[in-house]
Amino acid sequence: MITTEPARGSLLAIEPMDARQISRLLQLARRMNPDRPRPLLRGKRVLLLFYEPSTRTRSSFEIAAKSLGAMTTLVLSSGSSIEKGESLLDTGYTLRAVGADVIVIRHPQAGAPLLMASHLDIPVINAGDGMHEHPTQALLDAYTILRHKKTLKGLRIAIIGDIYHSRVARSWMHLLSKFQAQITLCGPPEFLPDVASEFVSGVHITRTIEDAIRAADVVMVLRVQKERLAGVKISLQDYISRYQLTLARLKLARRDALLMHPGPIIRGLELTWEVADCPQSAIVEEVKNGVPLRMAVLAAALGKAN
Ligand code: CP
Repeated sequence: MITTEPARGSLLAIEPMDARQISRLLQLARRMNPDRPRPLLRGKRVLLLFYEPSTRTRSSFEIAAKSLGAMTTLVLSSGSSIEKGESLLDTGYTLRAVGADVIVIRHPQAGAPLLMASHLDIPVINAGDGMHEHPTQALLDAYTILRHKKTLKGLRIAIIGDIYHSRVARSWMHLLSKFQAQITLCGPPEFLPDVASEFVSGVHITRTIEDAIRAADVVMVLRVQKERLAGVKISLQDYISRYQLTLARLKLARRDALLMHPGPIIRGLELTWEVADCPQSAIVEEVKNGVPLRMAVLAAALGKAN
């Protein structure tokens, strides 16, 4: 089937969503609890199609789907007919033909979920596409912040690290700016170019980590994405000395500041071991919150949000 509009129920990016749509999903997530399963999706088949490695996103979508009574099938690029050269769309048509009701896809190319959603008649959920977006990560992080802070409006949020290569950073920035958070970006030019773009407009940029963290309510740290650094020359030793989050640097933030990281974390690189495990760290909580949030996303995708 060929359509022009993305299939109804698809979640492809934060950018086109409005604050009300986001708030509705966050409210729905508050009603979801994997320890009290609800058979909202009994009989539905959730296809998890992963062209890139994943631990958190893949496992939490699977547990979310099963907590709602759905069946799940995992297809990885390695070991499937994708290795034989099957195209993205032919893989999508195949998964639809075997009975998928929704496809959750992670892909190295930006736009792959949109392409699939524009050619299928079932919802497609973006689990991360290239350097474009990772919408469910941004949603679960907003959900996590709102467990600790009354509102996103006016929050001082520092985002530190490899921002340019990060789909999570793009989704965070789209979401946080829709709720009038005050965003400061911090990183070296290789990870945060000077060029004005849709990506860096309307936010404050600094190259000094101390400036970014001072008086922040939330400090979000990003991994150095070695897999996306082809041609980028950067000294990791220099990066560590200038941008690694240490306890001394974290002390510059507000006393009740939250430390966040979408994972996977590389201890000793973008943050120290002590910071990863400090009382302000919400890193494990973010992972945990991924399950109810993804339960909400799957339920909404399949029209079971009430
Ligand atoms: N945050 C995130 O997407 O983690 P995974 O790559 O482990 O899914």
